[in-house]
Amino acid sequence: MAEGSNIHPEFQRQVPREEKENLLGQRGLVIWLYGLSGSGKSTIANALERKLHDSGRLVTMLDGDNLRSGLNSNLGFTDEDRCENIRRVAEMAKAVVRTGSIVLVSVITPREAFRQSAREIIGGADFLEVYVKASFEACRQRDVKGLYDKAEAGKIANFTGQASAFEEPAHADVVLNTEDHSLDACLEQLLSVVTPRVTL
Ligand code: ADX
Repeated sequence: MAEGSNIHPEFQRQVPREEKENLLGQRGLVIWLYGLSGSGKSTIANALERKLHDSGRLVTMLDGDNLRSGLNSNLGFTDEDRCENIRRVAEMAKAVVRTGSIVLVSVITPREAFRQSAREIIGGADFLEVYVKASFEACRQRDVKGLYDKAEAGKIANFTGQASAFEEPAHADVVLNTEDHSLDACLEQLLSVVTPRVTL
């Protein structure tokens, strides 16, 4: 914190994270799901939340579309706004993971620099980077929300994968290929990595 900012972050007197994790019987972890619109991020997050919840885990959901209707409603889709969107989501995830909750984030996070900054804000030990992989063509075919049609008609500015870049990741911790594998197979793959990380 810059000297003279008159801001004094306070952590010493708060209940330690470890006590909260013991209360919940789990370790907190941020699972950062990213990929193109329509790649399956929210579908995987929702199914994973259900599985974790049913096995006695506390989960918090941070979904891009939901957050953009509230906290981030003043942001659009320029690089600058996406960067700010990711910063806010990462700061929220950081605050929530300290409660011992498992945090499922689903946001496109189109650039390597954004993923890197999310990792830095949250801290590597609490961060699992999960690329939900499906090609632009596959997402275009699915077009669950009708956005690809609209973008093609020129009705959406800065659409990811079209007018705005999506950078393929260089070092995702997990890659879930939703084009070639079923939802169940992706969930099983993800759970095998998540389970040891959230077990006390
Ligand atoms: S991010 O790039 O800043 O990470 P985020 O995940 O929060 O994006 O929001 C993406 C969601 O916003 C998409 O799921 C889609 O429903 C909606 N959306 C609206 N406009 C765009 C656009 N130009 N590009 C991508 N998604 C858009």
